[in-house]
Amino acid sequence: MLYFVINTKNYPEASGRSAIRLASIANSVAQELRRHKSNVELILSVPAFSISLLSYRYPALSFFAQHLDNVSEGSTTGFLVPEIAKVFGASGSVLNHSEHRIPEEAIRRLVERLRSLDMRSLVCARDENEVSRFALYSPDFLAIEPPELIGSGNAVSKARPTLISSSLDALRRGRVADSSTVLLCGAGIVDSIDAKRAVELGAEGILVASGIVKALDWKSKIRSLAKGLIAAKEEQLGRPKKE
Ligand code: G3P
Repeated sequence: MLYFVINTKNYPEASGRSAIRLASIANSVAQELRRHKSNVELILSVPAFSISLLSYRYPALSFFAQHLDNVSEGSTTGFLVPEIAKVFGASGSVLNHSEHRIPEEAIRRLVERLRSLDMRSLVCARDENEVSRFALYSPDFLAIEPPELIGSGNAVSKARPTLISSSLDALRRGRVADSSTVLLCGAGIVDSIDAKRAVELGAEGILVASGIVKALDWKSKIRSLAKGLIAAKEEQLGRPKKE
């Protein structure tokens, strides 16, 4: 399986009615991918405000929160509580995004808590050292994202290709025996070549924001990045390309 996570951040281009339009487009591409048995899962990481509406409208799509707090239900005004995120349709959460870093102990506890809630966790790391440390907590996904390339349009797979392979080594070194943590790579991914290269270098998926949100044609951009992922996998498996 390959994973394609679209993080809409708080971009105005993907807020309000546009959030619904983007989710609807992602949903229809996800249907196409399923029809073609492509083994690519599309996940949308969206602002907390929209999870309820979007997950209600598009139940076949996975929606992640962009952050959750390690606080309890009850007297915790304004915090984002995992149990409540789940009730309102979140199936997982991004944690420790470069734009919303949290203490390592909070990462550990939140990964554990999400697992116990049957929700998935996607932990962001900025270098190999963090990858191997966070691997110990066995999140579902570990995303390597060098902060300086985020939003740059200069993909990590081009600008720092060895970071992906060394992160995969770090993940293998750090993870506990029965862990199935998947490595994603993000930052600066804008086209199918970037997506393909990420998989060739050892990632099992991508985390993308501006490359999608700022694109003029969301549908063709999502399709084209998914095609890049699929092409890399097909080549790894030695299969001929499908049109
Ligand atoms: O969460 C994904 C992100 O930080 C990468 O951003 O705009 O470089 O795709 P971008």
